[in-house]
Amino acid sequence: MKVTAIGTGYVGLVTGACLAEMGNHVVCLDVNAEKIRILNDGEIPIHEPGLLEVVRRNVAAGRLQFTTDVDLAVKHGTILFIGVGTPPDEDGSADLQYVLAAARSIGQRMTDYKVIVDKSTVPVGTADKVRAAVGEELAKRGLSEMAYAVVSNPEFLKEGAAVEDFMKPDRIIVGSEDEQATLLMRALYAPFTRNHDRLVVMDLRSAEFTKYAANAMLATRISFMNEMALLAEKVGADIELVRRGIGSDPRIGYSFLYAGAGYGGSCFPKDVKALIQAAQGEGIPLRVLTAVEEANERQKMLLVDKVTARFGADLSGRHFAVWGLAFKPNTDDMREAPALVIVQALLKRGATLTAYDPVAMPEARRLLAKELASERLRFSERADQALEGADALLLVTEWKEFKSPDFDQIKSSLKQPVVFDGRNQYEPALMKALGIEHWGIGRGRND
Ligand code: NAD
Ligand code: UGA
Repeated sequence: MKVTAIGTGYVGLVTGACLAEMGNHVVCLDVNAEKIRILNDGEIPIHEPGLLEVVRRNVAAGRLQFTTDVDLAVKHGTILFIGVGTPPDEDGSADLQYVLAAARSIGQRMTDYKVIVDKSTVPVGTADKVRAAVGEELAKRGLSEMAYAVVSNPEFLKEGAAVEDFMKPDRIIVGSEDEQATLLMRALYAPFTRNHDRLVVMDLRSAEFTKYAANAMLATRISFMNEMALLAEKVGADIELVRRGIGSDPRIGYSFLYAGAGYGGSCFPKDVKALIQAAQGEGIPLRVLTAVEEANERQKMLLVDKVTARFGADLSGRHFAVWGLAFKPNTDDMREAPALVIVQALLKRGATLTAYDPVAMPEARRLLAKELASERLRFSERADQALEGADALLLVTEWKEFKSPDFDQIKSSLKQPVVFDGRNQYEPALMKALGIEHWGIGRGRND
């Protein structure tokens, strides 16, 4: 099939590349000429495991191309995916300007039947707005009779596992009220549904809602466990054991129950806020979700609170090593990363820092340019070098290379062997045996 992906970010690029992998002919469009240049040079603008190989293979096979040429991109696809950003507005609601601009650019150019697919995460009712935007542009061209369908097909991939998630989806949600479009979507996704049909067709509004409800539920689990961890510390229980204890109940399940330094990323924070805002507009205050967000804001400061509990409120003259800056492992994405809050809060309290991340440092250099210029924040090219002369280590992102570090080296490099383990990577009993002072999240009393 002929497919166009509008937007070559995490979602658009993965969608385009994975659909090409199944034999479709895909054109990826972006307004960012620099991203398209990088892609046409045979590289990818993001860090995403396995993606570069899929992109190169399909470009070589002539099934995948990248362009800034809107005419070419709109003409090419029968199915056009809109995968552009939906960042938060000032009040937290989703800003639809990029989605609607993409819709208009389709309406301004299309000359035959198109299936226009909202893949971006968009509030309930957006498909109607997309349909109206396309219709208005067609009317301006005197083409009001031209047929097209608008479909909602939210994406559930996780960064760091995006290709794997897209290739082996748990489910594919298709909101469609157009028979021909539904048939085309079924055919497009047939190679991804493996041994049983994972495609669920529903009305447009339910599909749009499903995406927000999924992210809100996952964020809720995390904030719930983070609060349980706070209590565990007070009462002398270990949240890791509690996690295993409750996760074994199939009604609860094991995943997304890890207490930590708070959730970040481009989606949970933004989507939770957008859902709260949308509900507010309907006169439905979402009390649970409001608390989920508040708990997460507080959680991002937890490691800082532990540092000040240990070293005092004034951290002048103290130096700390920070391992991990990305909002989660296997990505260079730093949007809403807890590390940003932690670094800024420690600097504000007078500390100096040396930070290390396996892939996110270029992005961190951009986002923390002011802090770097102050010379109180430095980056290190290696994890072990970041430790030299520090008062303590803060583990913020659980990259694999931090899972089994050389503990002897940690002890000898730090001024005192103190580790703030923001992702519960190290067993308290082992740390005790090694003579390392270990501050986990919800791993029993710290006294
Ligand atoms: P992103 O910011 O990485 O990429 C968006 C891209 O769209 C940018 O490259 C931008 O230049 C381009 N763009 C903007 N307007 C355009 C236009 N009119 N024409 C062509 N290109 C245009 O965004 P992302 O992380 O891929 O997220 C996209 C959407 O998917 C969001 O709604 C997000 O909530 C949702 N989503 C993201 C993820 C994720 O893991 N990142 C997962 C599921 C859903
Ligand atoms: C999340 C969802 O998992 C995807 O299904 C969804 O498609 C995506 O948002 C989206 O809508 O964009 P992502 O943000 O890439 O994916 O990453 P997650 O693995 O969900 O992690 C999000 C944050 O939660 C990270 O900061 C992570 O450290 C934190 N987290 C995750 C926890 O603190 N505990 C957990 O148990 C799991």
